Amino acid sequence: MAKGDNITNIIDHVLYSQEDIQEMCKRLGQQLTQDYAGKNPLVVGALKGAVFFLTDLVRNMDVVMENDFIDVSSYGDGFESSGKVTLDTDVKADVKGRDVLIVEDIVDTGHTLKFMEDLLLQRGAKSVKCCALLNKPARREEDVTVDYYGAEVQNQFVVGYGLDYLNKYRNIPYIGVLKPEVIKANLNK
Ligand code: PRP
Repeated sequence: MAKGDNITNIIDHVLYSQEDIQEMCKRLGQQLTQDYAGKNPLVVGALKGAVFFLTDLVRNMDVVMENDFIDVSSYGDGFESSGKVTLDTDVKADVKGRDVLIVEDIVDTGHTLKFMEDLLLQRGAKSVKCCALLNKPARREEDVTVDYYGAEVQNQFVVGYGLDYLNKYRNIPYIGVLKPEVIKANLNK
């Protein structure tokens, strides 16, 4: 392997190990199993980041469900959201009368979650709740509720397990804090 190709070189320190994440999935899965029993929820993963979390989460839910995906973009410069959200790929299912559970990797400003919740409620969803792996309330700009989350994080840039920086590093199997110099190096480009 060429020097510098190892993706974990960009990690300052590990925040949540693979074991920590599996514990979170187990705990959340048990809670969701209770709360969604008999409801046949429509579990909607927010592409792309949430895919990694969703696949582990739903395998911890002993509930009959249907799965769908939505892709919305929050434009920004890689680490700051502009607040402008657009719908790139819609859900396929008719959400009218359904109990919808949105699965997110992280809720940061809340613009993305607000957009998805408003859209699904406008279409007549019976309930819309959110399960996020990470919640970053210090950055909140919208009044949204993260009904279920794995952990609350401080205002630091985290990558891995679906979380990206410039669409990279999602495949790191744990969650780590990005080295500040990686951001600085990209700012100067
Ligand atoms: C990330 C993340 C959330 C959103 C949270 O998605 O997956 O969907 O940002 O930020 P917010 O609370 O400030 O809106 P992104 O739009 O970067 O797409 P990705 O999942 O493809 O990385």
